[in-house]
Amino acid sequence: MLPGALLNLHRLHEYGTQVLIESGGTFEFKGPWFCNLDMLVTCDPANIHHIFSKNFSNYPKGPEFRKIFEILGDGIFNADYELWELHRKTTLSLMSRPKFYSFLEKTIWDKIETGLLPVLENVYEKQIDVDLQDIFQRLSFDSICVLVLEYDPKSLSIDLPYVPCEKAFSVAIEPLLHRHIIPETIWKVQKWLKIGNEKKLIEAGKAFDEFFYPRVSLEGEQDGDLNLLKAFTKAYKGSSRERLVDFLRDTSLSLVFAGRDTTSTSLTWFFWLIAINPLAEIKILEEIESKLHVKKGDKWRFFNIEESHKLVYLHGALCETLRLFPPVALEHKAPIRSDILPSGHYLHENKKVIFSFYSVGRMETVWGKDCLEFKPERWITERGRIKHEPSYKFPAFNAGPRTCLGKEMAFIQMKMVAATILYHYKIQRVEGHPVSPRDSIILQAKHGLRVRLSKRT
Ligand code: HEM
Repeated sequence: MLPGALLNLHRLHEYGTQVLIESGGTFEFKGPWFCNLDMLVTCDPANIHHIFSKNFSNYPKGPEFRKIFEILGDGIFNADYELWELHRKTTLSLMSRPKFYSFLEKTIWDKIETGLLPVLENVYEKQIDVDLQDIFQRLSFDSICVLVLEYDPKSLSIDLPYVPCEKAFSVAIEPLLHRHIIPETIWKVQKWLKIGNEKKLIEAGKAFDEFFYPRVSLEGEQDGDLNLLKAFTKAYKGSSRERLVDFLRDTSLSLVFAGRDTTSTSLTWFFWLIAINPLAEIKILEEIESKLHVKKGDKWRFFNIEESHKLVYLHGALCETLRLFPPVALEHKAPIRSDILPSGHYLHENKKVIFSFYSVGRMETVWGKDCLEFKPERWITERGRIKHEPSYKFPAFNAGPRTCLGKEMAFIQMKMVAATILYHYKIQRVEGHPVSPRDSIILQAKHGLRVRLSKRT
């Protein structure tokens, strides 16, 4: 089956979905015998529930995952068992402090006020077009760096400076997907020869090191009870100072990765879906006006956390975006002991299972005949509240004990940013600009999202 996959490498998510629909939600991928590429691919919610929640202990990330994502070192995404617990507890303890959300609100608003709005004003005044995806990546990179490192790289400024580390994330995610498909021996040879995709990954790794090492090695500069590096230094049980610095590099890199790509990708698809569904845009604006008592004539209107909680339709529109375009489009696990899945498939120990979260949202059997339509109403109950959907049916934030730690934070940021932009500007897509998903581990828009802006009157 490898030739089919390679021929469709440029549209892997679509191709995978097609095969999954034809095979009832699960299929066995067979590669050449010498490649160690055999795996089970599934988007069946019953399998997701079984693996991520009910039998969590039998499905660690495992050494294969670690091998593919070696660039993230000992950060939370690669960690299992005690190391994962240390990461999860330490991060969670910071995020659940009462002060965290006011720090978050201040950080996001500062970025909107001093970065996003000046950049958008400049674009509007000059009547030029802009790539919204690039803007959102810079915005979320700067904000997550402030939260994790207490350092603002200011990549979102009017001149849109080139910050190598910020761009390195977008570079790294493509080879990371290819490592799932290309035989290990081939990518290892490419890595050794420093050619092709592996060369890009090596360069991205260098950019990460140059950015993170100096920031995590600053002795005595860690202060404040919301300081993440300080909390991890305390929790870390490693042997030497050198190991500690490596560990802090891996930890902060993983958190910045978690925060940069996911939120920016969701916001990109959200604005694209809004552009092609103008009725939804009208409803969001009506909701802002009716629920938030906005005063006409405010130069800049600031939407705070409390207000963002009132925006139910906007929340539904974001969930709908995440259902159709989950930024983490696939996951990957392997059982320690052999297992039989609810779909009836037998899994040998250590056999790789790939979960296509992208396909779950596109299955009629899961979301109904209208699954490909953008319908924020799907998420709203008769009483006007947000409808809860189980995570195995809506796995954009993962499911079970490894559910995303930044879900609440991401919704707050996305709502504050989306409400601010929609309230002040009308976004128009640049005619003829192609928009399709990129084949990478994060479902970015392949060519970005080029738009023009006009002011709301
Ligand atoms: C729309 C935005 C977001 C989406 C769709 C999302 C999605 C996900 C997914 C699918 C995972 C599981 C990844 C894996 O296990 O390989 C995950 C884990 C995680 N996310 Fe998010 N995420 C988002 C935003 C954020 C933000 C802003 C943060 C803040 C730093 C964050 C922090 C984390 C952490 C720490 C984990 C690891 C959890 C664990 O392994 O126990 N996420 N997220």
